[in-house]
Amino acid sequence: MAKRIPEPYKIKMVEPLRMISKEERAKKLEEAGYNPFSLKAEDVYIDLLTDSGTGAMSDRQWAALMMGDESYAGSRSFYKLEEVVRDITGYKFVIPTHQGRGAEQVIFPNIIKKQGDYVISNMHFDTTKAHVELAGGRAINVIDEKAFNTELYDDFKGDFDLVKLEETINEVKAENIAAIVMTVTCNSAGGQPVSMANMKSVSEIAKKYGIRVFIDAARYAENSYFIKEREEGYADKSIIEISREMYGLADGVMMSAKKDGLVNMGGFIGIKDDEDLFQAARSYCVAMEGFPTYGGLSGRDMEALAIGLMEALEYDYQNHRIGQIKYLGDRLREGGVPIQYPTGGHAVFVDCKKICPHIPFNQFPAQAVCNAVYLESGVRAVEIGSFLLGRDPDTGEDLESPLEFMRLTIPRRVYTDTHMDVVADAVIAVHKEASKLKGLTFDYEPKVLRHFTAKLKPIE
Ligand code: F0G
Repeated sequence: MAKRIPEPYKIKMVEPLRMISKEERAKKLEEAGYNPFSLKAEDVYIDLLTDSGTGAMSDRQWAALMMGDESYAGSRSFYKLEEVVRDITGYKFVIPTHQGRGAEQVIFPNIIKKQGDYVISNMHFDTTKAHVELAGGRAINVIDEKAFNTELYDDFKGDFDLVKLEETINEVKAENIAAIVMTVTCNSAGGQPVSMANMKSVSEIAKKYGIRVFIDAARYAENSYFIKEREEGYADKSIIEISREMYGLADGVMMSAKKDGLVNMGGFIGIKDDEDLFQAARSYCVAMEGFPTYGGLSGRDMEALAIGLMEALEYDYQNHRIGQIKYLGDRLREGGVPIQYPTGGHAVFVDCKKICPHIPFNQFPAQAVCNAVYLESGVRAVEIGSFLLGRDPDTGEDLESPLEFMRLTIPRRVYTDTHMDVVADAVIAVHKEASKLKGLTFDYEPKVLRHFTAKLKPIE
């Protein structure tokens, strides 16, 4: 039986939810071009589009907003944030940014030295790949194949394929590699964690070839929690101790603080000791994000972030968070719904290739399931599959994603287990009738990033 973990907080402020009728939902979905990104949030009952910037701040964070120092240069709030990031990472240099992609747009142009240089990751997040490419680089993923077998239990499905990593380095040559990026947890593979042992090996390989290592740390605290729970030798270590060990393996970090920073907007760059890179990034930051002691954030944002970073490292918080996602995953499995197993850190990923074998990849099976779940219950989920992947830029052909997922992404400290039951019941109901779902075709397809603004229609 799926197990509930009690919330380690009580609720001080509430935000009413609204549920519109099934007829209204059908109309809204049609108006949105069968693309939940175009729905108005007020027409959504439970919003599982993303866990990014959608969390609830604590009373301590709200109180800290009043302490924000809005000085343009040298803000007290910056020094507070800097101290916390230094404490967690052990890195010397800290630059705030407005969110994760802000950090990416500052770092990649400063480490990609020549056109066509490579960045290797277990799996790049979409914006990370986009910023590698905008800076003239090429993104390669070398995730372990086990990530693609959704039924296979493995403690660390976000791991690098170490053999493939070394083969790739030898093939493209170390001098053409700008960085290795360790994405923890690995969002695109299902929020799957990377083990410390795997990261140690990546770090050793990088050292051997003289390649810089960065951590994409959007969900690093969740990753450290998984290491504590699952990896031998870490049960007695605290989440912050595990995180410090992980940061010690890399040269820098790019952080979307909208996830494990427990704020609605924010990010930062951390650099271990490379002063030249720090100086270059700092100058670049002025033009792209803002003066380097605010980097696109207001003083009050930095105050809230300094506290949120520490709260995300609390065991009881993580135990409930990861437990809630497992609860939803277990309920779905008990109801016969195929998911990426085990559940990862921030979402349950439903395997829609298995649910809709009758819908080909270029008619977007996972998008069809997302739409059906919205119609059924007002729950908004997001497609992570061939619709998101887009077209081959050279041939214009639709690319086929190895996995067709519906991501049920859980905001932090926002929904209760009763909400999870509503979600589970809806997905189970849709799964039972899935053979009747229809594929989708384009009414309007934008040239780039089609996932966000395309209009679709069901194929009758
Ligand atoms: N890296 C990872 C692993 C991410 O998941 C994201 C964002 C980013 C970087 C970029 O950070 O949004 O602050 O600019 N992921 C969100 C999501 C958008 O829904 O998974 P950002």
